[in-house]
Amino acid sequence: MQSKHILITGGAGFIGSHVVRLFVTKYPDYQIVNLDKLTYAGNLENLKDIQDFPNYIFEKGDIVDADFITALFQKYNFDGVIHLAAESHVDRSITDPMSFVMTNVIGTVNLLNAARDAWKASGFEGKRFYHVSTDEVYGELHDPEEFFLETTSYDPRSPYSASKASSDHFVRAYHNTYKLPVVVSNCSNNYGPNHFPEKLIPLMINNIIHNFPLPVYGKGENVRDWLFVKDHARAIDVIYHNGVNGETYNIGGFNEWKNIDLVHLLCKIMDEKLGRPEGTSVKLITYVQDRAGHDLRYAIDANKLMKELGWEPSLQFEEGLASTVDWYLANTNWLKNVTSGDYLNYYESMYTNR
Ligand code: NAD
Ligand code: TYD
Repeated sequence: MQSKHILITGGAGFIGSHVVRLFVTKYPDYQIVNLDKLTYAGNLENLKDIQDFPNYIFEKGDIVDADFITALFQKYNFDGVIHLAAESHVDRSITDPMSFVMTNVIGTVNLLNAARDAWKASGFEGKRFYHVSTDEVYGELHDPEEFFLETTSYDPRSPYSASKASSDHFVRAYHNTYKLPVVVSNCSNNYGPNHFPEKLIPLMINNIIHNFPLPVYGKGENVRDWLFVKDHARAIDVIYHNGVNGETYNIGGFNEWKNIDLVHLLCKIMDEKLGRPEGTSVKLITYVQDRAGHDLRYAIDANKLMKELGWEPSLQFEEGLASTVDWYLANTNWLKNVTSGDYLNYYESMYTNR
């Protein structure tokens, strides 16, 4: 008898795969349904170690398809939703904003409608809709003393952050209007294993391995606040179980890095690990045209989460970055499959032929 039925959306992606693994292994009496469309960012190889666990089910589907979502809620008696499915890359949002509107806004509203309709008869007793969001909704910081708080006004500046901000507003509106029990978290930039190599850190790791140029946007002065992905997954676990309905929690590691400094550090770590003379990889750095509307600095104040729910990051950045590099070097096949496109066949081979 499963005591909790949880829908996790986007579980084949970077952060989602860590959340799914954590919940499936830590809570054997929960039934975890991973719903993912398997876009270019979805890779079921990320979950091959737990795919046969009895409390894990994969469902391929699109959150934009309202009928499918309604049927999914009828098929499984979900107690909770942890919603991570999204289009997540700022650069892609600049070239194709509409796919961000569809998945991030329409898809989220479809899930909210389905949860509200499935749960209202129970008076929402024991139910929870957890929306996973980003610190980018707060815009950019200029004053070095300033941090994003849960009370900071929204000021999204890219199509990606505008779509996430919109979805956050819908989630809170459903709490206010329909009394749907929701929690929202806004997290800083994540890094770690299974990160698709279009984002800064895995892209640089892949390019250093292959001696490709390292494209640094603009002058490399932009600042990001980095958190190890497993610490984000741990925070999601804590907030899902102990967070207060209607509340927002900012998640971050108080770990700001200028892009150029981070790339230098990565070059140093990788020269050591690859047995190359120090200074080899730095020569690959190439300054390229800046991203349109590039946000200057993100920095999260995570004190509310730390004080109220007792979460704290477990890893120092240098340690986390070195272990991330180790993971990529030990999983060159994962990287090869992702960059060649072979990973897109994994679902067919594992799920449709057995
Ligand atoms: P990702 O791009 O790696 O994964 C997204 C997943 O969602 C993929 O598996 C993809 O197949 C799936 N998906 C996309 N469109 C879908 C649709 N229409 N229906 C069903 N599934 C769909 O993203 P990520 O980096 O793991 O981010 C996960 C969530 O966390 C997102 O909501 C993102 O906004 C948020 N977030 C990310 C970061 C970060 O640094 N990556 C930081 C803070 C918050
Ligand atoms: P990214 O990983 O795309 O995350 P986000 O834009 O959501 O913060 O980018 C992190 C930072 O690195 C951002 O300031 C843009 C910069 N960047 C580069 O300089 N070169 C690159 O090739 C990429 C992908 C990002």
